[in-house]
Amino acid sequence: MGLFDWLDNRTGYRKLVRAALFEHVPGGARWRYIWGSTLTFAIVVQFITGVFLWMHYSPSAQTAWESVYYPKNGS
Ligand code: HEM
Repeated sequence: MGLFDWLDNRTGYRKLVRAALFEHVPGGARWRYIWGSTLTFAIVVQFITGVFLWMHYSPSAQTAWESVYYPKNGS
């Protein structure tokens, strides 16, 4: 029993993956239907990268520059 079997036992995630990837699309799949998933992907990227920006950047007039300035070795 592998890690993914264990995870599936605990969460049932395979059912969700199957529902997302093998959904029946009436009339057949079309390339133009990717845009909803593309928007979802873009907003998830915003949330994840936003957390990292939040951890490293201080967006005020007094602190912004220093918060992202890393001097090179020797200078
Ligand atoms: C952040 C904004 C949005 C996100 C993340 C989003 C996401 C999605 C996703 C993932 C799907 C299913 C895949 C697809 O068919 O492409 C979908 C379908 C759809 N979306 Fe959006 N959507 C957004 C905004 C909108 C807006 C503004 C409209 C209309 C004014 C809209 C109308 C629809 C329609 C009509 C469907 C097809 C539903 C169906 O027949 O099953 N969406 N959307």
